[in-house]
Amino acid sequence: MDNPNTNDAGRAKEMPLLQLSGVSKQFVHNGNTIEILNDASFSMHTGETIAVIGESGIGKSTFLHILGTLDRPDQGTFHFQGRNVFEMGDAKLAEFRNKRIGFVFQFHYLLAEFTALENVMMPGLIAGRKKKEFRTEAEAILVRVGLKERLSHRVNDLSGGEQQRVALARALVLKPQILLADEPTGNLDKKNSAQVHEFLVELNREMQMTMVVVTHNMELAQYMQRQMTIVDGRLVAVNAEKTGGKYANMDYSCSGVGLFHDHRRPGVCLGTGFSEIGKDRGKPANRR
Ligand SMILES: Nc1ncnc2c1ncn2[C@@H]1O[C@H](COP(=O)(O)OP(=O)(O)OP(=O)(O)O)[C@@H](O)[C@H]1O
Ligand SMILES: [Mg+2]
Repeated sequence: MDNPNTNDAGRAKEMPLLQLSGVSKQFVHNGNTIEILNDASFSMHTGETIAVIGESGIGKSTFLHILGTLDRPDQGTFHFQGRNVFEMGDAKLAEFRNKRIGFVFQFHYLLAEFTALENVMMPGLIAGRKKKEFRTEAEAILVRVGLKERLSHRVNDLSGGEQQRVALARALVLKPQILLADEPTGNLDKKNSAQVHEFLVELNREMQMTMVVVTHNMELAQYMQRQMTIVDGRLVAVNAEKTGGKYANMDYSCSGVGLFHDHRRPGVCLGTGFSEIGKDRGKPANRR
């Protein structure tokens, strides 16, 4: 099957959709400096999907917030389609984010007093879309995440898992070029988690949507084409099974497919390609 995601040598020469270079991020807490990202580099091409896994506190959300332009790094650059995004002022950056990036927060930040539908319509109204026509699109995406019967429920009256799916719908409603999702299935049971990840694989196949998904669930991470973690402040590919537990800095031409059993032993990516992606609807990309 001809796979547009193939990250072969030719593709590697293309300009990445996004590229972080030499990114560092520290937090100062009670006078102590905590180094979270340290000279980290990372890039993705259009249509790639990546899972970021690893222990609590290693910097997954910090990394995602920088990718989502919600937080600025202390050092380093972030280019999106060749444009240095952190050179933009706050207003331009907010507009860029609204148009290009769908973000699912770890703690979703929905508007509790508004309905599920109103929450999902919010990004469209901010973008100046007509309320009536956008309502139809917002309803459709809520139906797709399984909330057909919950459109007019206030967020406060929804379960944790339902809230999480509203947050996902809100992130997707403007059909962003890239979806960044911070544990989008953290509150869902096994069946619903698998459905959400299958839905993400479908979106990737249908719309070439590029995705970075943070998850603690190893099984779900394998729905994404590559698995990464953060070691000593750097993004590294996970592929322990094939490498005996070594790790390397992220390789731009790496496609990183492979089973892994222990995310604490990240390994070098062997770049074996991911031609199986999307072959069977909803099937995890890397299952063998
Ligand atoms: N604003 C802040 N000020 C001080 N420390 C911070 C701040 N934000 C994050 N940290 C610290 O940075 C580290 C990385 O945080 P981050 O939220 O990125 O971790 P994570 O990998 O997403 O963890 P989890 O899996 O628990 O969500 C944590 O130790 C956290 O306490
Ligand atoms: Mg987090």
